[in-house]
Amino acid sequence: MSNISSDLKISASILAADFRNLEAHINEAEIFGCDEFHFDVMDGNFVPEISMGPIVLKSLKNLINLPLEIHLMVDDPFYHVDSFADIGVDIITFHIEACKEPNKLINKIKSKGIKVGIAKNPSTSIDRIDEFLEEVDRVLIMCVEPGFSGQKFNEKVVDSIIELDNLLLSRNIRNLVDIAVDGGINSYSIKKCKEAGAQIFVSGSSIFWEGDVRSNIISLKNSLRDKL
Ligand code: DX5
Ligand code: ZN
Repeated sequence: MSNISSDLKISASILAADFRNLEAHINEAEIFGCDEFHFDVMDGNFVPEISMGPIVLKSLKNLINLPLEIHLMVDDPFYHVDSFADIGVDIITFHIEACKEPNKLINKIKSKGIKVGIAKNPSTSIDRIDEFLEEVDRVLIMCVEPGFSGQKFNEKVVDSIIELDNLLLSRNIRNLVDIAVDGGINSYSIKKCKEAGAQIFVSGSSIFWEGDVRSNIISLKNSLRDKL
């Protein structure tokens, strides 16, 4: 079905799925070609909303056969690593804005055999994450203020993607660190992010909210094949 580069991945954000019917939505996302799942954890402090945590994930985990990213939008991310590690996840992504001792947290995640992602909000400069780039597997660039699904893509983040892409190239670690984007990713913004250098496209409302999951995923994949 797909002839897009295998380096480009679509990650389905479970937060935007139908909570009355999570099993069906998770199955559809897998069957119709998503490459990953993205699980948003919000604590009501780092972001105003409260979403879901390890207890919910535990009940969903046996439905999920794809790689799973935990996106921690919480203060004190350090204290949440163990419970997700115990469930078995592939990558834990924390926000630089929420973390006092990033190296300690990165080492803790790595010690569990889990990949590390570092996230930044739209207004946070790339400089804030610069010194950790050699230590992480992924940078998650937020394209909206973190907090909920269905927000509008912030065009200004395109410059951050380009800046990060160039920085990784100049450090010879471009093939070691993925650039992921999260928030407002639809058939239009996904092309802009791809052209700027992103490889992983987290999408919630564009997959789950309207129409059917199959057509929505196909349309995102088709956009990845198109030129701008
Ligand atoms: C927002 C979350 C996102 C969200 C994406 O804070 O981190 O993962 O679910 O949803 P859309 O694609 O609808 O912006
Ligand atoms: Zn997210």
